[in-house]
Amino acid sequence: MSRFVWWLFVLLSSTVVCLCGAGVCPCERPELCLQIRQTRDFEVFVFDVGGKEWKSYNWSMVTTVATFGRYDPELMCFAHANGARVVLKGDVPVRYIVDQNNRTAWITEKVNLAKSQFMDGINLDIEQPVVEGSPEYTALTNLVKETTEAFHREIPGSQVSFDVPWSPKCIDMRCYDYVTIAESCDLLFVMSYDEQSQIFGDCIAKANAPLSQTLAGYDQYVSLGIDPKKLLMGVPWYGYDYLCLNFSQEGICSIAKVPFRGAPCSDAAGKQKTYKWIMKQLNSSFSGRMWDDKCQAPFFNYKDEAGQIHQVWYDDPQSICPKASAVTAKGLRGIGMWNGNILDYSGEAVARQQTEMMWNVLLGC
Ligand SMILES: *[C@@H]1O[C@H](CO)[C@@H](O)[C@H](O)[C@H]1NC(C)=O
Ligand SMILES: *[C@@H]1O[C@H](CO)[C@@H](O)[C@H](O)[C@H]1NC(C)=O
Ligand SMILES: *[C@@H]1O[C@H](CO)[C@@H](O)[C@H](O)[C@H]1NC(C)=O
Ligand SMILES: *[C@@H]1O[C@H](CO)[C@@H](O)[C@H](O)[C@H]1NC(C)=O
Repeated sequence: MSRFVWWLFVLLSSTVVCLCGAGVCPCERPELCLQIRQTRDFEVFVFDVGGKEWKSYNWSMVTTVATFGRYDPELMCFAHANGARVVLKGDVPVRYIVDQNNRTAWITEKVNLAKSQFMDGINLDIEQPVVEGSPEYTALTNLVKETTEAFHREIPGSQVSFDVPWSPKCIDMRCYDYVTIAESCDLLFVMSYDEQSQIFGDCIAKANAPLSQTLAGYDQYVSLGIDPKKLLMGVPWYGYDYLCLNFSQEGICSIAKVPFRGAPCSDAAGKQKTYKWIMKQLNSSFSGRMWDDKCQAPFFNYKDEAGQIHQVWYDDPQSICPKASAVTAKGLRGIGMWNGNILDYSGEAVARQQTEMMWNVLLGC
């Protein structure tokens, strides 16, 4: 082998090794594989559960996409072309990461995965019950701290977020160290929905995210000393369809008693339905769209094929509007939703208008 050929061989093989470590950029233009570094004042944070609906998102407002579906390189390139971050989903049984070695191994794996896929951070979605002061309590806080340190070090400008319930008051037995967790990451995605996961009063169908209850949650986080700029409001693009065991003259729908984490009754008695499904179903309701003044939320009643009455509670532009306004009024970091995929992106005229309104109300009304 001539010296030149040998040199070429060494060069090529080292290039190959190098590419394998970093992953091959799947984008049309290599610069689209560069991670996003700039932060924006106002975040619009989208959970994406897989599929190609992202092609119809309003990319002029999206700043972060948390990918809960399969990794889609086309989505990564497209998001980067629009200056938006794409972040991994992070979930692990908390009992596993009490052990420091396990924790470090988990974090290293996630950082390497993010790097190899040219991603811009991670969303930690740990919704497990944790007892205050337990080894799991400390481990979870350390997980957030160490994940943030590792991501910021290895992927400069990356974003680490953590999903929290609508209130910090041990909702669903999630008694976490919210203050330290907030200090240890870039932002908390507040899941202002599933607010009937624990019903202690009458076992009846109610709004997924009543306005005053939703806003009280933010006041509770802020009164703990958490910076409002660390809090991002998550609104639901889904609702609940409840089968009524009894439907009173006043239109009150009694639901099955499904206990959840210490409560006798829960929204688990209902089925989660997409805004797309809800808008279709509304047309075959016998009540039409109704408005609950107390919860500031829409609902309707329909009869299924077996003749049984259902009540559907959901959010629409009218109920999201005052929430979006509170994001600005309270000086929060931004807004987001669970999840981006579930609007009707068919392009059909009525659906198109409904979908545009759901996006646009995020920025206020
Ligand atoms: C997308 O959002 C922008 C605001 O960022 C808005 O001006 C525009 O009208 C929206 N596009 C559509 C198709 O609704
Ligand atoms: C470490 O994690 C593995 C699973 O990844 C688990 O089987 C094991 O029990 C964990 N070790 C400790 C000490 O928690
Ligand atoms: C159902 O509601 C009616 C009033 O609307 C009431 O008289 C009746 O006792 C209720 N039945 C059950 C099983 O709760
Ligand atoms: C619902 O009905 C209205 C009028 O009856 C119609 O304009 C609209 O297209 C229907 N929407 C859906 C989603 O079927």
